Amino acid sequence: MSIGIIGAGNIGAAFARALARAGIHAAISNSRGPETLAALAAELQPFVTATTVEAAAKADIVLVAVPWSKLPQALSGLPDWHSRIVIDANNPIEAPPFKPAALDGRLSSAIFSEFVPGARVVKAFNHLQPHLLSGNPAAEGGKRVLFYSGDDASAKARIGALIERLGFFGIDLGPLALGGSLVQFPGGPLPALNLVKFG
Ligand SMILES: NC(=O)c1ccc[n+]([C@@H]2O[C@H](COP(=O)([O-])OP(=O)(O)OC[C@H]3O[C@@H](n4cnc5c(N)ncnc54)[C@H](OP(=O)(O)O)[C@@H]3O)[C@@H](O)[C@H]2O)c1
Repeated sequence: MSIGIIGAGNIGAAFARALARAGIHAAISNSRGPETLAALAAELQPFVTATTVEAAAKADIVLVAVPWSKLPQALSGLPDWHSRIVIDANNPIEAPPFKPAALDGRLSSAIFSEFVPGARVVKAFNHLQPHLLSGNPAAEGGKRVLFYSGDDASAKARIGALIERLGFFGIDLGPLALGGSLVQFPGGPLPALNLVKFG
């Protein structure tokens, strides 16, 4: 199971750190090229390597964490997704000036899915602050909760298993239409809640 990451900022790097902490290999990319990710790759060696967007996009599981307005550019011109799993970790708002994107009443994950035609999209890793994603998920005596949702049962099961392997407690919120709305930021009730499962 190969893992690629598109976007190496707050969330992409936090996901990479969570993978490295669990001893899982991944390749991470940004817009400026792998040479600009040398420090991150050095920090997370031997688990995380720097690569191009095109190479990261070929992985079995690809996490995308790019500012909302940059998604079309980041995801254009990539090879066919061929039912591979793409994790939508994105939120339709950017800082600054924290102005929500115009979605015309649609869910951001539905719009995101159109940028990765043929992929099996799972919404996950979008609702916690980066330091909670990269930090120890057992830090508060239980297991930090991560939500995930998607329309493909096997894709969702694989991401649920990955979440567990990272040490989090995964909660399946159901299909994208339901889970995506619950974790959508801004608007949904779940983002930014730092929940811990005890027992
Ligand atoms: N920050 C949070 O607290 C938080 C929490 C949950 C979810 N999110 C969501 O996660 C996503 C990323 O947020 P972030 O805070 O991680 O952003 P960020 O720190 O600004 O990092 C953005 C990353 O996207 C890359 N990127 C931009 N345009 C690209 C392109 N055309 N091709 C490839 N890579 C490109 C950037 O690469 P370069 O630097 O090389 O341009 C950078 O590595 C957003 O959708 C955000 O809403 C953020």
